[in-house]
Amino acid sequence: MSPSDLPAPPPALFPDASSRTRVDDALTRALLAAGERVAHGSVIPTLDREKLRRELAQFDFAVPRSLDELMKWTIERLEHGVVHMNHPRYFGLFNPAANFPAQCADRIAGAFNPQLASSGSSPAPVEIEAHVIRAIARRAGLPAESVGHFTTSGSEANFTALICALTRAEPRFESQGARAFSGPPIMYTSRECQPAWFKIVHQAGIGREALRLISTDGHGRMDVGALAQALSQDRARGQVPVLISSTAGTTGAGMIDPLGECARICRQEGLWHHVDAAWSGAALASERLRGLLAGIELADSVTIDAHKWFATTMGCGMFITRDPSILSVAFKVAAEFMPSSVTQLDPYLNTVQWSRRFLGLRLFLSLAAAGWGGYGQHVERAVEVAAHAREQLAARGWQIANDSQLAVLCVIPPPGYPPIRDIVKRVLASGRAWVAVAKTEGREVIRVCVTHGETSLADVDELVGALEANP
Ligand SMILES: Cc1ncc(COP(=O)(O)O)c(C=O)c1O
Repeated sequence: MSPSDLPAPPPALFPDASSRTRVDDALTRALLAAGERVAHGSVIPTLDREKLRRELAQFDFAVPRSLDELMKWTIERLEHGVVHMNHPRYFGLFNPAANFPAQCADRIAGAFNPQLASSGSSPAPVEIEAHVIRAIARRAGLPAESVGHFTTSGSEANFTALICALTRAEPRFESQGARAFSGPPIMYTSRECQPAWFKIVHQAGIGREALRLISTDGHGRMDVGALAQALSQDRARGQVPVLISSTAGTTGAGMIDPLGECARICRQEGLWHHVDAAWSGAALASERLRGLLAGIELADSVTIDAHKWFATTMGCGMFITRDPSILSVAFKVAAEFMPSSVTQLDPYLNTVQWSRRFLGLRLFLSLAAAGWGGYGQHVERAVEVAAHAREQLAARGWQIANDSQLAVLCVIPPPGYPPIRDIVKRVLASGRAWVAVAKTEGREVIRVCVTHGETSLADVDELVGALEANP
């Protein structure tokens, strides 16, 4: 084939520089305008799903469409078709409004599209990620030799912890799986844990019955007495305890398990201690709040999600361990075709994933731009906003059902109010705010979490008005 016979690259996929600049500028402006409208509109989706399905049915991908039109269409559908984490009155699950440096990071990562499987193909990104992980580990008080990596989610990081624990507990786990143990391997966490643990034990091949849920102390924290008792009972039955996962910042109520005591039990019993600080880990940035996580420095491993309170884009988890060699045992593999194979460095040799996106750039840019001080201010502000909500609701006779010092509040309406689910349904239907129904210590509560870095006290007052608005 002569060069002139070779077809040109499709311009719809690879436009020239001037088209890219024009489209990029238009996109930036369209997104800013949409963001403004979102902040003043409904928190919840207002889109007609049937209509969307009919529109989608017309995308048979036979006739190409203009990217300008497609972006306009997509932004409109997202503007009306999602619960808006970008809305300052999204008092939601731990999903944040994404900070701006993290959004810039996504653009840079998307443009270069580096493959982070190996340091050979991505020396700079691998170094940057490792640097951020070391900085977070140091901030948590973990030893200097601690290592880790970015994950797509907190669940992936928690899964990694279980694989490390199984690997350390039984070297033959690598070849024989759960069969290598002298009895069924088992792990412990509290009954207020994040339920992805059920999927994690399933995926790890030890089965859902291997998840032992320990009762709590009446305040949403793991009861260490019950934990010690469960351990000795399970051992007597021939089961093999491998891991205790303490939660720092429970999903329902933001409570912190007794990290130091759980660490002590793990040391005594020869178990892996994992701290799931998926949401609360960002509190390490604050001089005022970091003491709440005391004991995290004793953990064998830690999960912290940057896409929660560090407010990066989704999903940007971290797994960190004090054991510098365990990951390269747990995830070792041989592949001649890879550009490099450096033990304890190349992500494909130390993590669940193979191909990897440059996730860590999000936290690198936001942490470097804001500094620990900026992030400290961000988390302290959220705690202040939550305290305002607590005061306002308590003053109106609402019961406060958790005593978290973090930015999540569980409340129960005064007697005579409609049932909790009806109140939440009404608040969501109003579009004024987003809150969740949750359960803590067996009680149904309304869960209010400050996840948007720009939520104001006036936004809280609007939420209180929406909660109080009886039909
Ligand atoms: C304490 C805790 N751990 C783990 C997770 C799971 O994180 P992800 O949703 O990133 O998988 C969550 C999610 O909210 C959580 O609250």
